[in-house]
Amino acid sequence: MADSKSATLRLEDKEIELPIYSPTAGPDVLDIRKLYAQGGVFTYDPGFTSTASCDSTITFIDGDKGELLHRGYPIDQLAEKSHYLEVCYLLLYGELPTGEQLEEFENLVTNHTMLHDQMTYFFRGFRRDAHPMAILVGVVGAMSAFYHDSTDISDPHQREVASIRLIAKMPTIAAWAYKYHIGQPFVYPRNDLDYASNFLRMCFAVPAEEYEVNPILARAMDRIFTLHADHEQNASTSTVRLASSSGANPFACIAAGIACLWGPAHGGANQACLEMLEEIGSVDRIPEYIARAKDKSDPFRLMGFGHRVYKNFDPRATVMKQSADEVLELLGVENNPKLQVAKALEKQALDDPYFAEKKLFPNVDFYSGIILEAMGFPTSMFTPIFALSRTVGWISQWKEQLEDPHHKIGRPRQLYQGDTTRDYIDVEKR
Ligand code: CMC
Repeated sequence: MADSKSATLRLEDKEIELPIYSPTAGPDVLDIRKLYAQGGVFTYDPGFTSTASCDSTITFIDGDKGELLHRGYPIDQLAEKSHYLEVCYLLLYGELPTGEQLEEFENLVTNHTMLHDQMTYFFRGFRRDAHPMAILVGVVGAMSAFYHDSTDISDPHQREVASIRLIAKMPTIAAWAYKYHIGQPFVYPRNDLDYASNFLRMCFAVPAEEYEVNPILARAMDRIFTLHADHEQNASTSTVRLASSSGANPFACIAAGIACLWGPAHGGANQACLEMLEEIGSVDRIPEYIARAKDKSDPFRLMGFGHRVYKNFDPRATVMKQSADEVLELLGVENNPKLQVAKALEKQALDDPYFAEKKLFPNVDFYSGIILEAMGFPTSMFTPIFALSRTVGWISQWKEQLEDPHHKIGRPRQLYQGDTTRDYIDVEKR
């Protein structure tokens, strides 16, 4: 990091020189690491709206332009020309693979898709009505109890094995969480199928009959995985990094990321968006919901709208919208009432000055739920699919952090607003 520029902070009678770094893309970054030692003050930034928590070379977002780059490659090019496992390789290792490297990587992932057989009993410990995300958090966290030979984070080989295991086994875990939830037998992975087809088969096949994977649906599934693969320092990725900073094992860190992703402001938004479309029900009720979203005394928000970083169209949403049109046409469900409501809602919101002024555009979750529903997934599976797609992003960021010789435990400061020291009062005197 070159720091040819600096800023001077005046704190009463003290002047503190703060280095400024110029990243390869994005705004300059002020280094405040010595601020407390030199000035005796902390900075205050709840929600990290102005704070970089790490340096990274994986993903870059330009929210004003609506641009998303993985290792420099625009997401729309990757979604159109590449496929999920190639993007996984790119995120993990920094470069697009040669044909040979790709084949080797695909074989490696394909041959790690089965779960330890003992894990089937672990699934069976959950109630049938458990949310698949609850099962995912539990099963992924429990992987450290099943795969002892890949928990030593100081060993690069074990880190590599854990990375491959997580990417390979997440579709099996997510599909089994679904099968368990609906009371159907687990379907084992098949090594002759690609990553997306295998997942679709594990979700929708039953032992009683043959299941043919539709290649257009497999392509759409693969695109959904690709579009969700990484998104720089979002809440769940930052959670993974924070958990990892203490030296926690990879399975525990990814389980922490899954737990964070579950929230409706993050990965839970695709489920919340579909539920909202269902609740709106018909196009004539849209103005009522738009009015509610604008009303500050009403906590309701338009799900699938707005983003912390994108203040322009989410580039993932543009690709997802095209994919939605293709899938719905293929399945002959263009007249699906939720889709009609979604299309009209998008138009009315984009025409409304409130959303324009606040730069609130549809995000990736606005369209992904529509495609997933058309494919036959229940809303409860939307966030698990996001989690399985994002696993490679979490792993890449986790790996990058551990490979950084300067990494240290994450430990934010606080602006304390509570009582100062006071003496204990015996219970009978209170
Ligand atoms: N509907 C109505 N108003 C909104 C919305 C919305 N969806 N999103 C933001 N606003 C308003 C908000 O009320 C605020 O207004 P004001 O300045 O008058 O107080 C302003 O826009 C800025 O909102 P904010 O909450 O300060 O923005 P944020 O960056 O903290 O929140 C967000 C980002 C994504 C959490 C938020 O836009 C939101 O809750 N959206 C709905 C949930 C959603 O779709 N989440 C998926 C995000 S994309 C997938 C992912 O990365 O997980």
